[in-house]
Amino acid sequence: MNPHDVEVVDTAPLQVSTDTNDASVGTLLEMQEVSKRFAMSGGFISRRKSYLHAVDDVTLKIPRGGSLGLVGESGCGKTTLARLALRLIEPSSGSVTFHDFQNGPVDVATLNGRQLKAFRSQAQMIFQDPYQSINPRFTVFDAVAEPLVVQGVGNILERRHRVSEMLEMVGMSPAEGFLFRYPHQLSGGQRQRVAIARALVLGPALVVADEPTSMLDVSVRAGVMKLMNDLRRDLGIGYLYITHDLATARYMCDQIAVMYMGKIVESGETEDLLRNPKHPYTKALLSAVPVPDPSYVRPEVEINGSVSAPIDPLDRCRFYERCPMAIEFCKAAPHPGLEPKGDGRLAACYRI
Ligand SMILES: Nc1ncnc2c1ncn2[C@@H]1O[C@H](COP(=O)(O)OP(=O)(O)O)[C@@H](O)[C@H]1O
Ligand SMILES: [Mg+2]
Repeated sequence: MNPHDVEVVDTAPLQVSTDTNDASVGTLLEMQEVSKRFAMSGGFISRRKSYLHAVDDVTLKIPRGGSLGLVGESGCGKTTLARLALRLIEPSSGSVTFHDFQNGPVDVATLNGRQLKAFRSQAQMIFQDPYQSINPRFTVFDAVAEPLVVQGVGNILERRHRVSEMLEMVGMSPAEGFLFRYPHQLSGGQRQRVAIARALVLGPALVVADEPTSMLDVSVRAGVMKLMNDLRRDLGIGYLYITHDLATARYMCDQIAVMYMGKIVESGETEDLLRNPKHPYTKALLSAVPVPDPSYVRPEVEINGSVSAPIDPLDRCRFYERCPMAIEFCKAAPHPGLEPKGDGRLAACYRI
């Protein structure tokens, strides 16, 4: 058996030959009105439970073979949203739909057994910290081969071929030199490459990457980003790419969704959104001047006041307290819906 033939039983790697900039490629994963509330342990005498609205009524689409960037400050709910998209945690409300080529749209919440296993092979995550995401007792081979083992793909020889092929693909060449190394013998950049190889080994249609370069040395960031971009183009994978940095999003993503305190406040085509931001929060994020060099490390933006966690938030615009455009109306009105503001742009603001 040729290593290229190593495939997942009944969920063969998708061969998507599409122009990634073509909007007609359709939707890969869709989140509809998804919320996640975390119950807060109340005070000793307090009977009332408080809830932290980590993700609040989010609707978004990840295009097949395209890249959606989720951008926002630390604590705004990005990681929680990523975990919801992959059903690593259950939503408090709302639905996640995966558009499977073979079976059409499937409600991710209803999957179990074999179907859930198939979904797991199609939708992978790359975590922020390559030091935590790889088992320190695993060799590189063990780490990359594990998804094949879990899915029951190939025999030991086929796995060996497939893992070597993946290592070469992520630039760890010659693969033989890396197969039996342990994580502590690798640099941060190499570990993240191993994590990428592991995420791609089953030929997924969707990869959720949660700030995959933010913990890496500046010197290796650009290389890892370029690799991820090349792999997406070559393999036709859809990305949900999470970052707190707009310059990174600009390099990595066709579309951007800006998140603030659990809410998507603006979304649109990357270049268009960056050239002409409409929501006051996006403007504030951008005010630290976009730098075209993706390896430039931008400190997280400090905007007037600081983000407080949305614990039992009032039903009014989440950005009200920090907004330079707020008027009396905004104070009393509920949080504005994410609505079309022309040219395919969506924004949640009464003032635009
Ligand atoms: N398991 C959890 N239990 C309680 N609160 C949580 C949990 N996970 C995340 N949070 C809270 O939800 C909010 C969003 O967190 P997170 O999704 O990690 O944001 P980001 O990835 O944008 O930094 C934060 O206020 C965080 O403290
Ligand atoms: Mg996070």
